[in-house]
Amino acid sequence: MTNHPLLEARDVTVRFGGLTAVDAVSAAFGAGELVGIIGPNGAGKTTFFNALSGVQPPTGGELFAGGKRLTGAKPHRYAAAGVARTFQTPRVFAGLGVAANIDFGLQFAGRGRQASWLLKDAASILNLIGLTAQANLPAAAITPSQQRLLEIGMALATRPRILLLDEVAAGLTEAEVDAMAQLIRRLRDELDLTVIWIEHAVTTLLRYVERVIVLHQGRKIADGTPAEVVRNAEVVEAYLGDEMSDMASTQEEAAA
Ligand SMILES: Nc1ncnc2c1ncn2[C@@H]1O[C@H](COP(=O)(O)OP(=O)(O)OP(=O)(O)O)[C@@H](O)[C@H]1O
Ligand SMILES: [Mg+2]
Repeated sequence: MTNHPLLEARDVTVRFGGLTAVDAVSAAFGAGELVGIIGPNGAGKTTFFNALSGVQPPTGGELFAGGKRLTGAKPHRYAAAGVARTFQTPRVFAGLGVAANIDFGLQFAGRGRQASWLLKDAASILNLIGLTAQANLPAAAITPSQQRLLEIGMALATRPRILLLDEVAAGLTEAEVDAMAQLIRRLRDELDLTVIWIEHAVTTLLRYVERVIVLHQGRKIADGTPAEVVRNAEVVEAYLGDEMSDMASTQEEAAA
């Protein structure tokens, strides 16, 4: 259709008073990419997502979806362009049933949009995310990890082309983190989604993504394959040096 990236940030800056939370970050995301974003607490990861989804208008720079300039537009325009996201603090409707939460997402944006049969209705979305057995429970009654899945389901109900995931594996057990990573991979593969995934569980994340962006003090300090990024001297120095060098040897073993 076009050669434009699905989503693109050009020199995006977000300032809060004297603090520069996101500092001239540029990145383009193509169809079907699975991209990780890592960086220390306060690096600007969530604020970058807020800019990419229209929640936080940038102080400087430009945002494009499918080549169309969206800088300064409201979140619903980003949703209409196919951008969906989860929030670091889950925002499910606790009093509503699990299936009703998905229905809300379908009503919010999704019904008019052409979609994979995997996203046809609440039942098919619940099946995809593995919450069929919980369909009629109140969202407040399911486990925190199931609430993370439900939030992904609500984002999928808008039938996105680009899914932004903000720490959906936070607080999960190691086995749950792996299951989540496999689900994310499967969503990308089966729905042909572009997925951008922020996570502190760096070791797991680097095993599942093909590309990783590192933010540090608002700046993008690296953008490449996991193997490239763990060898990047600035990344090792800025971000968990010991953990990264452990991972570098793991990557080398994997590459050997
Ligand atoms: N609405 C806001 N007003 C003022 N400062 C903010 C606001 N949102 C974020 N910040 C600040 O911007 C910086 C980046 O925050 P952000 O939440 O984007 O980091 P993060 O990389 O997502 O961190 P974490 O890994 O802890 O989630 C931090 O210094 C934070 O305190
Ligand atoms: Mg954050």
